[in-house]
Amino acid sequence: MEPLLRVERLTTVFDLPGGALPAVNDVTFEIQPGETLGLVGESGSGKSVTALSIMRLVQPPGRIAGGRIVFKGQDLLTLDERRMRRIWLGQIGHRAGNDGPLACRVARGGWTGAARRRGRAGGK
Ligand SMILES: Nc1ncnc2c1ncn2[C@@H]1O[C@H](COP(=O)(O)OP(=O)(O)O)[C@@H](O)[C@H]1O
Ligand SMILES: [Mg+2]
Repeated sequence: MEPLLRVERLTTVFDLPGGALPAVNDVTFEIQPGETLGLVGESGSGKSVTALSIMRLVQPPGRIAGGRIVFKGQDLLTLDERRMRRIWLGQIGHRAGNDGPLACRVARGGWTGAARRRGRAGGK
């Protein structure tokens, strides 16, 4: 079965004065339809940045430096703004609250305040 989501060699860095600091380093996993995946790790280990990267909502100075995010067969990192907006609108979201992006849910449903702001801003 084709996975609902495949994160492949995802690397997200923060461009800081001292150089590019990796926050997510070469991460690969898959989620099948109906499956739930929990990300567990100590504070600062990259759980939130992983979730934000999947939704393409990492803000500068953060950026996705490598990898692929294949959702329903399409690489989200290659989508233009219009197509990505459709994904934000109804396909992928995270639950707001203290656990924020940790509750990232890859399913039909609402979308987040961050996504909404970004959708309106129309930036990449
Ligand atoms: N806005 C930011 N600026 C610089 N570095 C950041 C920023 N946000 C996160 N990071 C870096 O990314 C790492 C992972 O953060 P995060 O994904 O929030 O961790 P977790 O959710 O697992 O507690 C942090 O240790 C930090 O080094
Ligand atoms: Mg976190």
